[in-house]
Amino acid sequence: MKIAFFNTTETDKQFFSPALKGHAVELIPEPINDDFLPFTHDLEAISVFVNSQVTQKVIDLLPKLRFIATRSTGFDHIDLAACKKRAIAVSNVPSYGSNTVAEFTFALILELSRKVSGSYNQIRQTGSFSVAQWQGFDLSGKTVGVVGTGKIGANVVQIAHGFDMQIHCYDPFPNEQLKTQYDATYMTLEQVLETSDIVSLHVPYIPNKTHHIMNKKAFDRMKPGTYFINTARGELVDTEALVEALQSGHLAGAGLDVLEEESFTQHCEERLLEIHPNEQQLKEYLFNHYLIDADNVIITPHNAFNTVEAIQRIRQTTLENIIAFISGKPQNVVSL
Ligand code: NAI
Repeated sequence: MKIAFFNTTETDKQFFSPALKGHAVELIPEPINDDFLPFTHDLEAISVFVNSQVTQKVIDLLPKLRFIATRSTGFDHIDLAACKKRAIAVSNVPSYGSNTVAEFTFALILELSRKVSGSYNQIRQTGSFSVAQWQGFDLSGKTVGVVGTGKIGANVVQIAHGFDMQIHCYDPFPNEQLKTQYDATYMTLEQVLETSDIVSLHVPYIPNKTHHIMNKKAFDRMKPGTYFINTARGELVDTEALVEALQSGHLAGAGLDVLEEESFTQHCEERLLEIHPNEQQLKEYLFNHYLIDADNVIITPHNAFNTVEAIQRIRQTTLENIIAFISGKPQNVVSL
């Protein structure tokens, strides 16, 4: 089989090339998207990460493509409708880092509650050990609102319990075990937003279902002084509404590992010279720059998944997904 892996590192090469001996394996450092199309057009399988965009144009360019193995849990970077038309199977890695992303969620929460990087930078940049600017707040006794209690949200609940927090949850499919084991209370989304000191999002992005579930109405419902955390997907949030809620002081701060139009924002300078961005992309870019510059917002580069252990689990499951597809028994298949 002719397989190309996009957005890869030298370590990926050392893992996948020997493991797929006998197949034509190519490892390409860049992600695949409309602006970076592969030179080889007879690929039968591709493996991508979330910063690739497998669009209709990409799929049209690869007439022999039969299989996509995404090295991620989310698959909103793949045009599933286009895959369905061509009967291209898509596999994901359903759980490689439920604890990993939950731990990072608390890295963001603790950064907002205890201002670690600001105080660290002060010492490095000025030599001052003054604590005047760095008073934080306890997590113990505060209420965390967990929106989406699947694999990652459940781990957030478990950690929050360890911090002695009150735990309010919303999920259309409540997890009974979280109620008994960690004193989690399920309520409506509106109630979670109205009662939490910190709201953390752990919902998949499904364009016609969860697009902008955090909109102006949702932010207005939150108590003044609420902190908002997003390690799920940027497109779940109406960025303009988030910026307004922060600018007005209604929200006390935000911790964001993901942004709307994240890829455009990352590569804006080169993209501006190559393509004509649409009005919405430019607006998101400006809002994202407000967020990047704001003192009460911490932004990380979609890094919640990135631990040694999680990456090893991603590689192993992706390899198993590819071998399963080749042997005619595909696994971890995303429904199209
Ligand atoms: P999961 O599928 O185990 O859980 C998702 C939960 O959300 C389910 O319980 C589902 O019932 C619930 N849900 C669906 N629609 C909802 C809605 N409108 N309101 C409330 N709950 C809703 O997924 P998992 O593994 O917990 O991952 C969640 C998301 O985290 C992924 O879809 C992905 O986008 C993101 N993620 C981000 C990473 C990062 O590096 N920042 C890494 C891995 C995942």
